Amino acid sequence: MSKPIFETAALVGTGVIGRSWARVFVRGGCRVRLYDPDPGQARRALHWFHEDVALDVREGFVTRADEALWRDRVTVHDDMRDALKGAGYVQESGPERLDLKRAIYEAMDRTAEPGAILASSTSALDVNEFAGAVPGAWRCITAHPVNPPHIVPLVEIQSSAATKPEVQEKTIAFLTHCGQKPVVLKRYINGFLLNRIQAAVVREAFHLAESGVADAEAIDSAIKDGLALRWAFIGNFGTNHLNAPKGIAQYFARFADAYRSMIGDLRNEPPAFDKDTLGRIAREIGMGESEEEVKRLSQWRDRMILRLKALKKDHPRP
Ligand SMILES: NC(=O)c1ccc[n+]([C@@H]2O[C@H](COP(=O)([O-])OP(=O)(O)OC[C@H]3O[C@@H](n4cnc5c(N)ncnc54)[C@H](O)[C@@H]3O)[C@@H](O)[C@H]2O)c1
Repeated sequence: MSKPIFETAALVGTGVIGRSWARVFVRGGCRVRLYDPDPGQARRALHWFHEDVALDVREGFVTRADEALWRDRVTVHDDMRDALKGAGYVQESGPERLDLKRAIYEAMDRTAEPGAILASSTSALDVNEFAGAVPGAWRCITAHPVNPPHIVPLVEIQSSAATKPEVQEKTIAFLTHCGQKPVVLKRYINGFLLNRIQAAVVREAFHLAESGVADAEAIDSAIKDGLALRWAFIGNFGTNHLNAPKGIAQYFARFADAYRSMIGDLRNEPPAFDKDTLGRIAREIGMGESEEEVKRLSQWRDRMILRLKALKKDHPRP
């Protein structure tokens, strides 16, 4: 692999998302410095890192040579200033609260290297709101990953009004080098792209389950044995395009009325997400709710996604 644009990356906040970013950046050839105000958390993240890499070695997704190379590349630092030393790129993955993000950005801007990029994992907050007022607003940007980032490559990029264009360009180049797939939002919208699309699906999946049209396993089957098999390769618009011999214009000439009617039918109010419905859904999809079961199935999911990614890489769109 060629040298990364930044030799050292730092992580501020090392929970579920931060620890997975560590794998992304070592994969890209960086040294990674971990900081969390809860030092026990940063150590647990490092422990998870080694355990997860070892699992991937056993399953053949990571070579022993890479495991050895990465062994000393991730370090824990109890002080933010120390963690950010020498880091050209900082990925913030603290709690999803505007007041905390603002405070973290003020601290990072005070302590980071003068030219370092300060990227946030925020799922829904506007970078203009939490980083628009710091003196170094020009170097602040959102790079919103999908959980877990070292498995799922999409990263949603949002610049603020103050972000310098070269900060966005370098962020995209760096993340691409590390194996991610950055996409750019031209303006802020609550939930960005992925979570808005997901919200539309969640709304209708709950509506179908609650109104007794089908059980939850049948509804999930419509996605995993139907829609998602095509989505993984050609997305939504690509699916529309290939569903008629002359492409998307012909498809909607045929089906626009049907879509208008179904879209008109969609329920407007959000689901209640009540305990009884959620318990019934978990039973119907046959997934246990214990932590061990969720961990076991998540590990299987991750390895399946790695296989799918390899298939996509080996067979690019003709
Ligand atoms: N979990 C997801 O599916 C997901 C997906 C994409 C993005 N995100 C975003 O990533 C960010 C982190 O989410 P998570 O799921 O990893 O949460 P988490 O609760 O697992 O981790 C948050 C970490 O932030 C640390 N923290 C607390 N106060 C802090 C501070 N002042 N400065 C720095 N760190 C602090 C906590 O100790 C904890 O380790 C959030 O902005 C979230 O919206 C989450």
